[in-house]
Amino acid sequence: MSDPRRLPPPYRIKVVEPIPFLSAEERARALDDAGHNPFNLRADQITVDLLSDSGTGATSAAQEAAAAVGDESYAGARSWFRFRDEAADLTGYPHLLPVHQGRAGERILFTTLLKPGQICISNTHFDTTHANVELAGAEARDLPCPEALDLDSDFPFKGDIDLAGLERTLAGPDGPRVGLVLMTITNNGLGAQPVSMANLEAVASLCRRFGVPFFLDGARFAENAWLIRSREPGYADWTPRQIATRVFGLADGCVISLKKDGLSAIGGLIGLRDDDLFARCEANLIATEGFSTYGGLAGHDLERLAQGLREVVEPAYLAARAASTARLARMINEAGVDTVQPAGIHALYLNAGRLLPHLSPAEFPGHSLGCALYLEGGIRCAELGSLYLGTIDEQYRLVTPAPFELVRLAIPRRVYTEEHFAYVADTLGAIAKEPERVRGYRIVSTPPLLRHFKVRLAPLGAGG
Ligand code: F0G
Repeated sequence: MSDPRRLPPPYRIKVVEPIPFLSAEERARALDDAGHNPFNLRADQITVDLLSDSGTGATSAAQEAAAAVGDESYAGARSWFRFRDEAADLTGYPHLLPVHQGRAGERILFTTLLKPGQICISNTHFDTTHANVELAGAEARDLPCPEALDLDSDFPFKGDIDLAGLERTLAGPDGPRVGLVLMTITNNGLGAQPVSMANLEAVASLCRRFGVPFFLDGARFAENAWLIRSREPGYADWTPRQIATRVFGLADGCVISLKKDGLSAIGGLIGLRDDDLFARCEANLIATEGFSTYGGLAGHDLERLAQGLREVVEPAYLAARAASTARLARMINEAGVDTVQPAGIHALYLNAGRLLPHLSPAEFPGHSLGCALYLEGGIRCAELGSLYLGTIDEQYRLVTPAPFELVRLAIPRRVYTEEHFAYVADTLGAIAKEPERVRGYRIVSTPPLLRHFKVRLAPLGAGG
């Protein structure tokens, strides 16, 4: 029992919630009603929901006990100070602003810091982050490291930024236009891959040399810290909290969606060092989110978050979560479905393009696999392929495919058991036995922006 990877999670279940099991006919009808887009399904039509790890985790008894004494005073609430002290101790930033979720922090930071025409460089921007950079009039540019583009490579830090590319950009003709470097830890857009401490140190020193602000998108800061501890030489004796604090210390500030590693349903945070930037962000916050001691959150939310920030860096929690995702990856791979390697923590990314070679990108293999998972087992997940990232023409035909056809299985924190995961792997195994049965899809209607949320589709070969 000395191998920590074999230890069970450091909690047991006290409160449970029923999940529905629909018949195959009911699932087919539900998906049809949803325009064959899992985003349009009702949660009570889903057996295992792996759409997102955001705001979907289970809270602890200690979090709920803290929430019961939440202070709902309009200004200066006790709960704010408890949250602020916890976050300040963890991150070391002198200025902290609460926001209701990550993208609110992004909007406030980017509209305050970035000028139209400037460039924001990232290892990979998350989709709302990309949108908020562009809404601020700036350009979002991704520079992932080359290893990230080989889905099968075992390189331990495929979340790293391409340092040579970053230096070339900063020193080149676009250099004066770079207004921000933003590192997403872990890299949700490209396989849940971690960023190494060495890469973050190098980014910090480049940014200092060229006088460019360096920020973190720290939505999964604790999981990134755990992967540094497990994979990067020299950190095996550090606690995840010490690693996270060192990472925050390298940057000028952060935006964090606390719906992930805050272990809460809602919440976010902006951390800053610069006094003037803080004053300008605070004014924006008060005008658009709420007073600077609650920022759109209730006192009980701030209490859950303060306690969540403690629990999320516990080594036993992170070890059990990482081991559980790795086990799920093994089960899925053994069932005949490839995943982006090596397994991260918050999600697994299925290689739908490889599993369904009979479908062209224009038939949306990732989306087809996601729909098959629902039809076969009531499992919901998200496509990360040509439906989400490709470009389409006015007749809804695919013009430029995405680089990969992936499906993300996001894993809510402290919610599902090994039996749920075995069920997911079995369902995938059944699909992988006869992959040619999976049909492609065509778009029927789509909104002009953020297509994947509201697009409606029809299965091909069904007279549709
Ligand atoms: N940054 C990253 C890396 C994220 O993954 C997300 C959200 C955000 C920012 C925005 O935070 O949702 O609190 O406004 N990711 C969710 C997901 C939605 O499913 O991956 P938010």
